[in-house]
Amino acid sequence: MDLGLKDRVYVVTGGGRGLGLAAARELAAEGAKVVVSGRTAATVDAAAAEMGGPERALGVVADNADPATAETLLATARTRFGALDGVLISVGGPPAGAAADMTDEQWLAAFQSVFLGAVRLARSAAASLGEGGVIGFVLSGSVREPIPGLAISNGLRPGLAGFAKTLAAEVGPRGIRVVCLLPARIDTDRVRELDSLAGDPDAARAGHAARIPLRRYGTPEEFGRTAAFLLSPAASYLTGIVLPVDGGALHSL
Ligand SMILES: NC(=O)c1ccc[n+]([C@@H]2O[C@H](COP(=O)([O-])OP(=O)(O)OC[C@H]3O[C@@H](n4cnc5c(N)ncnc54)[C@H](OP(=O)(O)O)[C@@H]3O)[C@@H](O)[C@H]2O)c1
Repeated sequence: MDLGLKDRVYVVTGGGRGLGLAAARELAAEGAKVVVSGRTAATVDAAAAEMGGPERALGVVADNADPATAETLLATARTRFGALDGVLISVGGPPAGAAADMTDEQWLAAFQSVFLGAVRLARSAAASLGEGGVIGFVLSGSVREPIPGLAISNGLRPGLAGFAKTLAAEVGPRGIRVVCLLPARIDTDRVRELDSLAGDPDAARAGHAARIPLRRYGTPEEFGRTAAFLLSPAASYLTGIVLPVDGGALHSL
């Protein structure tokens, strides 16, 4: 199947590592041009170099919590590659912790980067994308099922899914799609950090894997291929969806 990604242009935030990088890699491998962003120059520059250098990929240092980031990234895509066909919004996860323990400061910081940063980028993209454009959100299984010990994620992600669904209905008539991905236990730095919070990371990982129907963590490549498909013209009739990428871990239908 041809995904139709050749020379299409995407912005991928949080694209220097983890799930964002995995998605950007697959987009680039299918011939797309990508702007990858993150807060660390060395990481986004290395990612861009690996994906083909200045003609195919560009790293931009930008924090999703910064109100200027959305316009900077979209303008960079148009200036450098002459077009914009889609965005994928990934960002570092909020701090782990129990509902009773999280402070106002932690909620506000997470809201700025995880929630408002995503809303701003999606809103700007919706205003500037044309027919065939796509807006993707990397969310979490916590959209459907609260995860013990991740109170802020459990609080913010379902709201973002509601925003995405609302936006999908608004921009659908213009031929723009909006999709959400719900990863769970994809083997990235984030998941390794969460596992290390439980005194024995190997035991934590084994315990999680035992509760996943496929009995293992997902690879970033498995997530990246799913994201690249959803962002591609091959997925042209998919919008307003939330797709778990979790080896069957969610219990709901
Ligand atoms: N992996 C999973 O199975 C899983 C499961 C559920 C939910 N999620 C969620 O999916 C998202 C991506 O997960 P991941 O596993 O890829 O995490 P990760 O390995 O921690 O990578 C996060 C990426 O986002 C960048 N980033 C962090 N804060 C940023 C900010 N404020 N602005 C711009 N870029 C930022 C990081 O680069 P810099 O640090 O250089 O900025 C890094 O490239 C997270 O929100 C995570 O909570 C992941």
